[in-house]
Amino acid sequence: MNARVKLLSSSTFRLAALYLVLFALSVSALLGYVYWNTAVLLERQTDETIRAEVQALADQYRLRGLSGIIDTIQRRSSDQGGAVYLLTAPGGQRIAGNLNSLPPMPQDEATWIEFPLAVEKNAVRENHVARAFHTDLAGGFQLLVGRDVEALRQFATIIRQTIYYALAIAAVLGLGGGLLMSRNFLKRVDAITAASRTIMAGNMAGRMPVAGSNDELDRLALALNEMLEQIESLMAGMKEVSSNVAHDLKTPLTRIKAQVEAALRSNSPDDYREALERTVDESDRLLDTFNALLSIARAEAGQARQGLVPIDVSALIADVVELYEPMAEEAGGRLSSDAAPGLMVIGDRQLLAQALTNLVDNALKYGARDGETPEIEVSGKIEDDKVVITVADHGIGIPAEDRGRVTERFVRLDSSRSKPGNGLGLSLVSGVMKLHKGSLVLADNHPGLAARLVLPLYRA
Ligand SMILES: Nc1ncnc2c1ncn2[C@@H]1O[C@H](COP(=O)(O)OP(=O)(O)OP(=O)(O)O)[C@@H](O)[C@H]1O
Ligand SMILES: [Mg+2]
Repeated sequence: MNARVKLLSSSTFRLAALYLVLFALSVSALLGYVYWNTAVLLERQTDETIRAEVQALADQYRLRGLSGIIDTIQRRSSDQGGAVYLLTAPGGQRIAGNLNSLPPMPQDEATWIEFPLAVEKNAVRENHVARAFHTDLAGGFQLLVGRDVEALRQFATIIRQTIYYALAIAAVLGLGGGLLMSRNFLKRVDAITAASRTIMAGNMAGRMPVAGSNDELDRLALALNEMLEQIESLMAGMKEVSSNVAHDLKTPLTRIKAQVEAALRSNSPDDYREALERTVDESDRLLDTFNALLSIARAEAGQARQGLVPIDVSALIADVVELYEPMAEEAGGRLSSDAAPGLMVIGDRQLLAQALTNLVDNALKYGARDGETPEIEVSGKIEDDKVVITVADHGIGIPAEDRGRVTERFVRLDSSRSKPGNGLGLSLVSGVMKLHKGSLVLADNHPGLAARLVLPLYRA
């Protein structure tokens, strides 16, 4: 689009134009009022004065006769007030007044006329305009009373010109200002558009320009930048997850391939059998990994939210502890529980059980130092309107600086590489917490780890 068309079709320009029209209308109304109140009113007043004077002179003629009116006219004519008088005889000859003869006029009875008037001012002749009322008196006499309205006319002209100039200035200023403003605005919109295009073209680190004026455009740009930040970190996360998944699946698949190849070379039915059995085991583990990944994705996407129901956490803790107690005892350790009754949350029972199981599983795996036996306590209580489930052990714990990243997918600390696992357990826990609007808090148990599930309490 060419620049001029763009400017004309922009909303700012249209707004500026609208304001301009409103502005011009109010300026005209104001100036029109001023004009009416000065020029027009003054002219009317003059007319009224003339009319009153004509009336007075006519009365005089009626009451005191010709000599009376001549007297008055002569007296008034000598004043230097710009008044014009003329009384003529039936033949048209001047009888009294400061005009020499009647100006040309229509033959009406009584009329307003305007005529040029030569005025002697400081020995200079000036051409003025006079406005007068002309009337016939009884006996064929004619009376003309008027005023020099030159000053009045000039004044009106000045006011009219002022109005035109004011309108022109208002239009130029308004239009210029509007154009300037909208051009400025358009430039910034264009900058944002250009920035989005470079981002779309693949420059994910690009951001919208922020002018620093904190106006609507700036706030829009800031909001967009926050969104871009989030998208970028989500995309980085996705990239990492997919490369982790690829890496973690490669190892078991390579193992399966090696086993099957070895079996094929050996030709003995026993080796075949063993290879097939191992393949089944590896496949089971692969399936577990996939299932865990899918559960995490589902929990994080919040898909199960509609299906959430009130869950008795006290009962849930009892069930999980009962299931895992034999395992703890087998390892020579102990799994004890201490849950207040009636702990209720809104949730998905299976996912919550899975989260708790993952924590207990970790405590069993990592909760004992070399040569010691696991001592695990599972507790449940209410704190500040939250249900807090804690799984505490006395193992090596997780160093404070690693507590943030162990909840990421596939993250396993070096100290636990000897134990089996994918590094997905805590990811699922934190995904389940996200789904339940709760949180997973990892804390020091001095020694060991205290993993806490904090969930909103449900009151029936
Ligand atoms: N109770 C604990 N004590 C010490 N370290 C722990 C404990 N729980 C988890 N960790 C550390 O956090 C890491 C991540 O735990 P997570 O449960 O996510 O994975 P995993 O147990 O290694 O594998 P998976 O749970 O998928 O079988 C573990 O590898 C371990 O290093
Ligand atoms: Mg685990």
